[in-house]
Amino acid sequence: MKLIIASNNRHKIEEIRSMLGARFERVLGQREAGLELDVVEDADTLEGNAQKKAEEVFALADSMGLMEPGDAVLADDTGLLVDALGGAPGVRSARYATDGHDDAANREKLLRELDGVPGERRGAHFATAMVLVRKDAPAVRATGRVYGSITFDERGDNGFGYDSLFLYGPAGKTFAEMDADEKNAVSHRRNALALVLAALS
Ligand code: IMP
Repeated sequence: MKLIIASNNRHKIEEIRSMLGARFERVLGQREAGLELDVVEDADTLEGNAQKKAEEVFALADSMGLMEPGDAVLADDTGLLVDALGGAPGVRSARYATDGHDDAANREKLLRELDGVPGERRGAHFATAMVLVRKDAPAVRATGRVYGSITFDERGDNGFGYDSLFLYGPAGKTFAEMDADEKNAVSHRRNALALVLAALS
């Protein structure tokens, strides 16, 4: 049985792969599976975008004869929701600063928007909506979250996206200062995936 992750983000694929355990014999990113498509993420919720990615990637994989019984496609749509910004950037996290996926520009914009906001008002959380689609079984949907706050400067070189600005209180470190195993033990993505795997078993 194989799992195709509906993403071309190598960080996301690696995180999911390392958290999956032995549930699937093979775990492939979209491109590794030979699926060339760019899903337009224009839904107004994380859940809607995850559903769209899962359905479109599944439809292409199925039309190419890749989906055998037991195989699945898993999509993840993630956002950073900052309290002082009314939940922004949220579903627009990837395109916060520009229409492209420019992580450095997004982080700069976030720090600019929070300029002058004191530490106690910098609360934020990551949310990951996951949708797993199979051929002959119902879809599984789950959302995972992790709570923390936004730092005043970038800290750490690990991870990706907004990790260097997200302070995880219990560790006293940003996600980019934690190694992959530390982040994967507590992250939004871990919490979503745990719910999906529990629903499968
Ligand atoms: P998407 O889920 O790939 O659409 O990601 C939305 C935005 O959130 C992008 O800017 C990503 O870089 C960022 N992002 C997604 N997952 C994470 C994460 O685990 N840590 C930090 N940033 C993330």
